[in-house]
Amino acid sequence: MQDNHSFSSSLSPLYQKLMLESQRIAAKFKVPAFYRQFKAQYSLSRKVFFNHPLVLYVKNLVRPRLMDSFGHGLDHSTKVAIDTATIILLEAEKYANIRGKLERLMVLGEIAGLLHDIHRGEENHAEKGASSAKKILKPFPLENREIEWVSCAISNHEAFTVPSPCPIPWGQLMSDALYDADKFRWGPDNFTKTVWFMVNYRSIPLEEVIEKFPWGVNGILKIKETFRTSIGRQFGPDIVDVGVEIGKEIYRYLLEFYKDYKETNDSEK
Ligand SMILES: [Fe+2]
Ligand SMILES: [Fe+2]
Repeated sequence: MQDNHSFSSSLSPLYQKLMLESQRIAAKFKVPAFYRQFKAQYSLSRKVFFNHPLVLYVKNLVRPRLMDSFGHGLDHSTKVAIDTATIILLEAEKYANIRGKLERLMVLGEIAGLLHDIHRGEENHAEKGASSAKKILKPFPLENREIEWVSCAISNHEAFTVPSPCPIPWGQLMSDALYDADKFRWGPDNFTKTVWFMVNYRSIPLEEVIEKFPWGVNGILKIKETFRTSIGRQFGPDIVDVGVEIGKEIYRYLLEFYKDYKETNDSEK
């Protein structure tokens, strides 16, 4: 788990409190099966993420370009990067010719995860991210085709769009793994973190957050049909379902909280 505290201070005191309450509620729910079943693969992916010099270099490079205040910062990118490489590792078992290439593919998948949202908050952020990734990675000790795989994966990561084909097999695997890892964030992460930063960033009042909350919870369910790897299709819907159950519980809490909050505010007027 990543530490929130480094950037949660950018939240208003109200949304900081509600985010922490959401995390307290979420802690009572089961951990999605993906994270229970593949602990060994996940920890191998973490090891690559926190030790490989290329990944560390990209991490430092992108840190100032990521939008922590919008809920799509280093914490989001780190989770996407580690899950991307975990999915690559799990999917790679299907390929007989993978030996000797696997760690390299995991490193590239993590680099794609770190870079995928550097233009979040702008129009066509996936396309822009893909083109910036090419420029950023040009001086790196990477083959042209490896840069192409990373860039293609980033260009395809947006939800509810038709992806362009990437060079097979590794470019396609990277693209599909990055997409699924990014959409795994539509599970518990969405309600325990992202949503609070997004509403805070857009200065959306609590009343409006509560009004739109059920719509948001149901809207998320649509992503379940879009997973692209077989691991994603098998485990993604469970991650989303756990998130939605957490979301419903948070919604019940918010309704109660809002009654007291409104009474206090009205009596102070
Ligand atoms: Fe994105
Ligand atoms: Fe993302």
